[in-house]
Amino acid sequence: MSGILLVMEKSVKLEDIVSLAKRRGFIYQGSNVYGGLSGTWDYGPLGVSLKRNIMNLWWRMFVDERADMYGVDAAILMNQKVWQASGHVDTFTDPLVECSHCKGRFREDKLDDPNKCPACGKEGTFGEARAFNMMFRTFVGPSGQNDLTIGEPMEGADDKHNLQGMKAMTYDPNAISYLRPETAQGIFTNYKNVVDNFYPDLPFGIAQQGKAFRNEISPRDFVFRSREFEQMEIEYFVHPDKWEESFEHWVTKCKEWFEALGLPAESVHELEVPEDDRAHYSKRTIDFEFDYPIGREELMGLAYRTDFDLANIQRASKKSMEYQVKGTNEKFVPHVIEPSFGVERALMAVLVSAYREDEQNGEKRIYLALPEHLAPVKYAVSPLLKNKPELVDKAREVYAKLSKENPGRVMWDDNGNIGKRYRRQDEIGTPHCVVIDFQTLEDDSVTIRNRDTTEQQRTSIDNI
Ligand code: GAP
Repeated sequence: MSGILLVMEKSVKLEDIVSLAKRRGFIYQGSNVYGGLSGTWDYGPLGVSLKRNIMNLWWRMFVDERADMYGVDAAILMNQKVWQASGHVDTFTDPLVECSHCKGRFREDKLDDPNKCPACGKEGTFGEARAFNMMFRTFVGPSGQNDLTIGEPMEGADDKHNLQGMKAMTYDPNAISYLRPETAQGIFTNYKNVVDNFYPDLPFGIAQQGKAFRNEISPRDFVFRSREFEQMEIEYFVHPDKWEESFEHWVTKCKEWFEALGLPAESVHELEVPEDDRAHYSKRTIDFEFDYPIGREELMGLAYRTDFDLANIQRASKKSMEYQVKGTNEKFVPHVIEPSFGVERALMAVLVSAYREDEQNGEKRIYLALPEHLAPVKYAVSPLLKNKPELVDKAREVYAKLSKENPGRVMWDDNGNIGKRYRRQDEIGTPHCVVIDFQTLEDDSVTIRNRDTTEQQRTSIDNI
């Protein structure tokens, strides 16, 4: 008999999640073969499925199932004027301090002790913090890469870049662009296109998913703070007098989203962000925080951005961003409620919520109790013995049938003995393991094992 020993979510360690993610092909350090690139992560076969399942669920809930939502997919590289008008060129900064002893650079507001260097341990070696802009800058076209971007290598650095000759090149400041630090601006710049093409009634939203890039001073805690990550954002355009009711609407929708991800309600917390801590564009922000193994941290944000962005675009582009209410002369620049979701933080919360350990027949078992709609693999199909061609042939038939009904979500697994296969599938969160045995050959029935209870049921192939 199996003794069940549940590991509560709060005691899950970050190392457990990182180790499982690597061991089972979810997430690897980016550029691992060359020693890695800090703040970047690569998704393996199961990670990419889990991530897509999360992103597709979001798109279905917030775009496909709503009549008031329009999807866009804007370019990552945008005209530099976007980032000037949005305030990012001037204010998207973190405070950076440098240790005069070891030259280590740190984000001042994340230091445990602001007087002590966490790298060399010296005290009083930090000078004044400087504002470090987190946008990755680049040049569009063959007009850049000069001393502005390169400068001299740091003292003692081994410079392998072979940049001789480049330093003398001139550059065109108009060619400067940035990798977008948020997907939101790609939505605002398409607001007018959507209004002109689709004439939506207010309130309506524009949604986008995609990569965002931030040159974080201290990327850390696995995918939690990365330099390249994905966002799922909505800009919801409302009448200026009605922002409060739309804000409440989105509080409710965010909670429905957390439930759909399988996050325990008691692990998600609402933080009303005080004025001093809010982003420059926000008049009200709620951060939804989650109890990660690293502590209670931001999962996503919900902000009232007023008409900050559209008014800036109107000023900078000299094009009207006004909305005219149908059948009236009433015109105004709409205000905006912005639910901003981070994919990596959602994925990490899903893994933490699903991680379990128990004991089966005296042995420790690790499994992911993922909601079935998020699990990368829904069915694993195995012949009981892989050296019996009649079992393998029948199992292939079942595999083909299930794959047709659940494209991309069925795994063929004949490695090792059946116990090992179950362990492997448990660790990747497969809810159902289907085994083809000798009885299958007689009556077309198979066993299906439940991941969470480990109980097996016999059922006919047609009833799976
Ligand atoms: N458009 C508003 C905006 O970008 P934000 O609070 O800076 O607001 C929104 O970011 C969400 O993006 C965060 O709540 C988080 O989920 C995710 N996010 C931000 N920076 C991140 C990073 N360095 N790594 C992973 N996710 C990040």
